[in-house]
Amino acid sequence: MPLLTMTNISKRFGAVQALQDVSLTLDAGEVLGIVGENGAGKSTLIKILGGAYFSDTGSIVFDGESITIDHPEYSLSRGISVIYQELSLVPELSVAENLFLGHMPRNVLGGIKHNEVMQRSRTLLERIQLDVSPRQRLADLRIDARQLVEVGKALSRDVRVLVMDEPTSSLNEKEVQHLFSVVRNLKAEGVAVIYISHHLEEVFEICDRVMVLRDGKEVDTRPTTEWTPTQIVEAMVDRPIEDFYPKANVPIGDVVFRADGLSLNDRVQNVSFDIRAGEIVGLGGLPGSGIIETAQIIAGIRRATGGTMTLQGQPYHPQSPHSAIQSQVGYVPEDRKEQGLFLEFSIRRNIALSILSKLSKFGVVNNKSTEAIAQKAIVDYKIKAAGTGAPVKSLSGGNQQKVLLARVGQSDPILMIMNDPTRGIDVGAKVEVYERIGEFVQQGGAVLLLSSELPELIGISDRIVVLRNGQKIADIPRNEFSQNVIMSYAAGTSGGNNE
Ligand SMILES: Nc1ncnc2c1ncn2[C@@H]1O[C@H](COP(=O)(O)OP(=O)(O)OP(=O)(O)O)[C@@H](O)[C@H]1O
Ligand SMILES: [Mg+2]
Repeated sequence: MPLLTMTNISKRFGAVQALQDVSLTLDAGEVLGIVGENGAGKSTLIKILGGAYFSDTGSIVFDGESITIDHPEYSLSRGISVIYQELSLVPELSVAENLFLGHMPRNVLGGIKHNEVMQRSRTLLERIQLDVSPRQRLADLRIDARQLVEVGKALSRDVRVLVMDEPTSSLNEKEVQHLFSVVRNLKAEGVAVIYISHHLEEVFEICDRVMVLRDGKEVDTRPTTEWTPTQIVEAMVDRPIEDFYPKANVPIGDVVFRADGLSLNDRVQNVSFDIRAGEIVGLGGLPGSGIIETAQIIAGIRRATGGTMTLQGQPYHPQSPHSAIQSQVGYVPEDRKEQGLFLEFSIRRNIALSILSKLSKFGVVNNKSTEAIAQKAIVDYKIKAAGTGAPVKSLSGGNQQKVLLARVGQSDPILMIMNDPTRGIDVGAKVEVYERIGEFVQQGGAVLLLSSELPELIGISDRIVVLRNGQKIADIPRNEFSQNVIMSYAAGTSGGNNE
């Protein structure tokens, strides 16, 4: 008998049927993958399992017993732990406090049992193979370590089903492998895992079976060995995708942006490059290479400590993100929640925020034009939402990302800096995002692209500038692209001075 059986689960939000009669089974020690387009219902399904939402219909059997999940605490008490798409940790607290968030071991007087907390924290950190002190502040950890602490937090209770919703969306290849090694150990201990991801290679690597959802319905569930990547994509999007990285033939024009000797202490050292009209320049490098800092300097988030920049021939030195926007430099940040969107606000308001000066006459915002612009964004980016008034937090993760892209596009940029623009976006919608980027450069725009996915960087860039230890190592033309070439420059097995 399976450990978990969910039968005919349905859930509706207003006009949206998020799930319709979805069923699944899960065995102990098994990893079940759930894939589907943005808004297909993946997160909704596991939120029902985690007690965050209550389903309209359906039944759940766990461990041979029919159960009603009416509260997150109930799921936890049964050993069902869900790590949501939005991380739930508290950055200001220590690692140990986060591991035991909500159930700190206490003595009869209510005082925290510090020794026990420290001891158990160390055991948990060992299980997630993370070499940090329990006393360290979470905010000081890198994003991959925080993701592992989420897993550790789940393990701080006796976990039997571990659910992970896009756990790797901000991890690089090495960090993904670390997470997978933790998952394999859990699997060996008999823990059942549900794994949601838009990265099909990961799904093929770690999952025993894969379920495809489309528009809230189950399309098919098969053992991983009985799927091919193409079949999964076709089941997800219901149409063949010929070209995953569409690239329009765009004439390259004049220099739009130039960086000359750009420096930020020792993190970015004397970096020079330019971007021309119609050009997509990839900025490649490993964590710590300085690519993020470089992007942030151009976006006005950090101030360079040396060097100069020009935009369309004019000196450019943004004092703030706002002044960068005013100079028509758009920025798609790496984290849409920390630096991008206001989740409580509507789609309309989020989009209007970047163009207030354009929309307001004498300080009065014209609601009609905001509405029209928001409606157009919904159509252009195929944002799945109840309407322009829907709060961004009611959208699926991928659709939130599309709102962010639409917003940046609204401010009439001449240069767009995009840091992982397709994070959390499904395979079909990615192609559409690349087409949008293609249209932007076709109209003379210039793009600086950072991506945690090397195939994406290679797929749509015209040139790739590689940084290593803060220094520019290579400037590679498209006809010389390959994963090997770029990785060997980034990792330092090749180059060092090719200029
Ligand atoms: N709290 C809510 N209020 C209104 N609509 C919601 C809410 N939660 C989800 N929805 C809607 O239900 C549908 C399914 O959303 P869900 O988050 O499950 O998608 P998903 O498959 O996880 O997508 P993604 O890959 O983008 O994360 C979407 O149309 C979404 O807008
Ligand atoms: Mg989701």
